[in-house]
Amino acid sequence: AIDVSSLYKKEHVLTYDPGFQSTASCESAVSYVDGEAGELTYRGYPIEYLAEHCDFLKTAQLLLKGEMPDEREAAEFRDLVKHHTLVHQQVSFLLNGFRRDAHPMSILVGLIGALAAFYPLDPDMSEQDQHRLAAIMMLAKMPTLIAMSYRYSVGWPINFPDNSLSYAANFLHMMFALPVEHYEPPKAAVKALDKILILHAEHEQNASTSTVRLCASAGANPYHCVAAGVACLSGPRHGGANESALRMLMDLQKAGGIKAIPELIRRVKAKEDGVRLIGFGHRVYKNYDPRAKILRGICHELLDEVGVGKDPLFALALELERIALEDDYFVERHLYPNVDFYSGILQRAIGIPTPLFTAIFAMARTAGWFAQKNEFLESGDIRLARPRQVYVGEPRRTL
Ligand code: ACO
Repeated sequence: AIDVSSLYKKEHVLTYDPGFQSTASCESAVSYVDGEAGELTYRGYPIEYLAEHCDFLKTAQLLLKGEMPDEREAAEFRDLVKHHTLVHQQVSFLLNGFRRDAHPMSILVGLIGALAAFYPLDPDMSEQDQHRLAAIMMLAKMPTLIAMSYRYSVGWPINFPDNSLSYAANFLHMMFALPVEHYEPPKAAVKALDKILILHAEHEQNASTSTVRLCASAGANPYHCVAAGVACLSGPRHGGANESALRMLMDLQKAGGIKAIPELIRRVKAKEDGVRLIGFGHRVYKNYDPRAKILRGICHELLDEVGVGKDPLFALALELERIALEDDYFVERHLYPNVDFYSGILQRAIGIPTPLFTAIFAMARTAGWFAQKNEFLESGDIRLARPRQVYVGEPRRTL
């Protein structure tokens, strides 16, 4: 038998770190998560401040540029984004090729990947400038693509963007306006959606951001990088958890509501069929996720305005949280609600259909993906990311 250790060059120390629990893959100045304290900052600004004082596009600009824009810079950036909200007519032909019941995340991966074919890069631009322009284009087109895929799924004609509206209001307009009646995006829904976007915009080296950075390290087209990020985000252990969390609450409601909580907790603790409390726990936060705290607060604040108060799932979620946080199983493992626990309830109140929850997450995270990817491309140290492995297969066989 071959001594496997002899296959590795002696001068390289190889670390084995499944799930990258202890491995920093890069240096980054974009955002910081203090998991013990339960704090999150974007470019040094606490998330609570940003949710209170900024809108999503200003937050995106802060993430991309590194500094808080002044009013003139923010207005210029808004105009630039608005300039690119339309998508090529042929993208809608592509959309027509999908099944109407396809999951929006599957459609999104396809359409975003295809943008590379509709918007070829300018070979006279540097790689960095190509990615900077693609950031604007992608932020602008993401709401259009998501709304298109929703309206396709319900058989409604596609709405053009309305550039007189804010980013969040325009998305609601593209989603819900019908030619037969006047539609004005409700102010409370616009406010709630904008805050959801800010809270989901960035979260350092999570799985989808690492995917995007890895693709960029290979020199991939910016739209392809984002398509890969969307694919990764769709997983239920990552961004897909917001949809799964709401479905868990719906199942709980069907099973008897608050009365059914003890049985769910019992099954989770017994690890029956691998059942987990979706929307609980986080790789980095070992304290309350600050985003979940803000979302829970918005739910309370907008109880009447967007109708969260009428939703029995909100009361159910509050009770589930109360019971879990008094239970030793969750306390000992530092399992607190994460961003996905309350975001579904809020999105539902705004009228967003459940299968679109993760697409909204992707719309927001586009800002963080580009900030991180462009930081890497501008770092002056563009190296192909290529993890090693510990080989456990057969030694060389005798032929
Ligand atoms: N419910 C019940 N038990 C849990 C949960 C949960 N949600 N999360 C972790 N645990 C338990 C595990 O069973 C394990 O118990 P053990 O020590 O007895 O074996 C212990 O806590 C540690 O769990 P790990 O899976 O090792 O923790 P990790 O940090 O790898 O997991 C993760 C993080 C994947 C988010 C996990 O908490 C989870 O599955 N949560 C539910 C899904 C979810 O909400 N995902 C969204 C994350 S936020 C985001 O991506 C935007």
